[in-house]
Amino acid sequence: MREWEFPDYESELPVSEKSNPLTRDIDRASANHVVRLLEACDAEIFQEETGSPYKKLFSDSIIKTMMAVAEKVADILKGVTESLVVLSGCGTSGRLAFLVATHFNRLSTSVSRSPVFAYLIAGEDKALLSSREAPEDNAQLGMLSLQKLCQGKGRVLFIGISCGLSAPFVAGQLHLCLQHPEVYTPVLLGFNPGSQARYEPIPGCTFTFQSVVQQLEELTVNQRAFLLNPTVGPEAITGSSRMKGGSVTKILLESVLSAAHAAAHANTHITYMGMLERLREYERAVAITYAQTEVIAGLVEAAGQSLQCGGRVCYLGWGSLGAVGLIDASECIPTFGADYEDVRGFISGGYQSLGNKDGPLTSLGPQFSIAHADFERLVLHTLSERDTLLLIYTHCDAVGEVERLARRVREKTSGLHAIYHASDASATAADNISDLCSSVLKIHWPSSAGESGDSNLRMQMELSSKLVLNAVSTGAHVLKGKVYQNHMMDLQVTNTKLYHRATRLLQGLSGRSQARCQEALLGAVYRTDHLTVELLNSDLTAHTLAASTRSKVVPLALVCLLIGCSVSEAESRLARQPVVRDAVEACLTSSTQP
Ligand code: F6P
Repeated sequence: MREWEFPDYESELPVSEKSNPLTRDIDRASANHVVRLLEACDAEIFQEETGSPYKKLFSDSIIKTMMAVAEKVADILKGVTESLVVLSGCGTSGRLAFLVATHFNRLSTSVSRSPVFAYLIAGEDKALLSSREAPEDNAQLGMLSLQKLCQGKGRVLFIGISCGLSAPFVAGQLHLCLQHPEVYTPVLLGFNPGSQARYEPIPGCTFTFQSVVQQLEELTVNQRAFLLNPTVGPEAITGSSRMKGGSVTKILLESVLSAAHAAAHANTHITYMGMLERLREYERAVAITYAQTEVIAGLVEAAGQSLQCGGRVCYLGWGSLGAVGLIDASECIPTFGADYEDVRGFISGGYQSLGNKDGPLTSLGPQFSIAHADFERLVLHTLSERDTLLLIYTHCDAVGEVERLARRVREKTSGLHAIYHASDASATAADNISDLCSSVLKIHWPSSAGESGDSNLRMQMELSSKLVLNAVSTGAHVLKGKVYQNHMMDLQVTNTKLYHRATRLLQGLSGRSQARCQEALLGAVYRTDHLTVELLNSDLTAHTLAASTRSKVVPLALVCLLIGCSVSEAESRLARQPVVRDAVEACLTSSTQP
């Protein structure tokens, strides 16, 4: 058993919120070591059940549930009239719902079938590219958006994704499904045991996530609802479900939907061994990726240097790999309190290639300019040697266009790198581009990887790119000193889950009571040493709303707690020592000295 699997390890927390013992010292690790630690954490995804108290990805019950859900999807694919498969989630979970739904709609269209997949994300399409955590707390909004989408539909298979079994937005949607079983069949996807689902009351609702899960569990007996919740271990950076949680979401959804697609359109059977093999393909994809630890570490090092000296990291991706880049970049804002320019994604063809429901969002502001053309117009002329640029493409993409852009970037900076996916046959095709780059992460996919079709190979390349980019952006922020031990210190406190996570972090590091830590947190949110009774009694939503306009809330609160100083003194201390980890360490040392 792993340390975190013992009942007394951080026993009050669900698995998704526990800290991973493997990464306790990740804040002190070199780039190479960071990548190895991430590899070790990702390996837990495929850990076998033997000896563990938890259900795992390869557990019999999980594979059988995947098969049963695939059968339901196949039924819908065969008789599409008035039916829909909805994938929904918040943050990364919603972004992956988008990525997967879009992929399978394109696949259906390629065999002349109507698209039946739809996605929902809390905060709508804006949230695909930017941080919108507040709507995650809104169960009514979840219900309304599902109702609106499914108006007039006779049959809906609803797949709600919440890694922590915690988002009220998804709980509301599952509740709606339970109220209307004649239309909806609910599936819940997440990575905690049902007993660890969030039990906190949801304002204005009679249900909690926990009560919804209990109802779902009862219905699983007759296959009127499904629960896909293998445990994959705590995240490398505590609570950062964009990492393992996101990867497993992608693996599970794609395995189920590709089995269903093959059953509906190629007359294959959905079998136990077939499903197992799909999962094993992903396990191999993870191994193929991490076989290149050294090169990945080089990218982490380069990106880390850029962030440390005020430079930027830009991903320039093609096709769905461009979308993977956009997703990774968008997550750095809430996760590390980063600016949108710190890590930024661009996709060839812009919104047309992205294929989001609302189309171009460019008018919403500069961070919504996502096409390569926008990059050339707005960013290219500002590039310098401080910046790191990453081309992300495959042998199937417009290699001539990749080369053209590479040449333009190279005129401005030598910080150009590439992630290039190639099948065996085309492995040497991109040498002109390699010559322009400081480093190339060339991932060779054996012909067996594409055995079950180009679509499957593409999805594996996406996962592989996700792992590399997660390593680059996480590693770079670790090197920048944004992480203390394995906790992100500078997280945004923009919804109730993050508020509670921040409070726990403050308690753990300061040893103070929950009440005292909440006071310090609010002091940092409102930038005051004198909290009025009115402020203390206002509801959490008001606090998280106020926090959305503030930076460095958690580090400030911690400094106040450790030093016993005023908010303004904490602000000047942090200004003198902008590396959050160093500031925290300095305070911890001085607070333990007599
Ligand atoms: O609150 C923000 C966030 O933690 C994102 O980072 C994450 O992707 C999202 O919530 C969804 O979390 P979950 O999948 O557990 O509902």
